[in-house]
Amino acid sequence: MAAVLTLAGCGDDSGGSEGTALKVDSAYMPQPVTAAMAAGYLVIENDGDTPDTLRSVTSDIAQDVTIHTTSGQTMESAGSNDRGIPAHGRLVLRSGGTHLMFEKLKRKPKEGETVSVELHFAKTDPVKVEMPVKSATYQPASASHQ
Ligand code: CU
Repeated sequence: MAAVLTLAGCGDDSGGSEGTALKVDSAYMPQPVTAAMAAGYLVIENDGDTPDTLRSVTSDIAQDVTIHTTSGQTMESAGSNDRGIPAHGRLVLRSGGTHLMFEKLKRKPKEGETVSVELHFAKTDPVKVEMPVKSATYQPASASHQ
């Protein structure tokens, strides 16, 4: 057998990420009660040695996506969308905490659909997320207390 070894690609398909390794997990959107706004949740894991910053979020269904924080029963705009993701750390956007707020919806997302979201970072290339729309009362089974 000829000893020809082909080096497989190392999985780096972007080449421009400067050592960060971001992975998005547990993304979902509870079906909103009105067509005015919707919340979205996800976890961004950073397996790399370089911290990064979430700068902005865009989506096909909303004109505006901002980051909100929840305090008590109310939520408010965090003022800036910038959110740090430490090296070997994670940024958690979850129910009852910091979350994505989709405003000026172009259509009302329904359970079973998927919403396209693009995350823009300071260093890493943009990451596309297909965010599933869950029932209005959906709670992730295991992702909440890791
Ligand atoms: Cu909100």
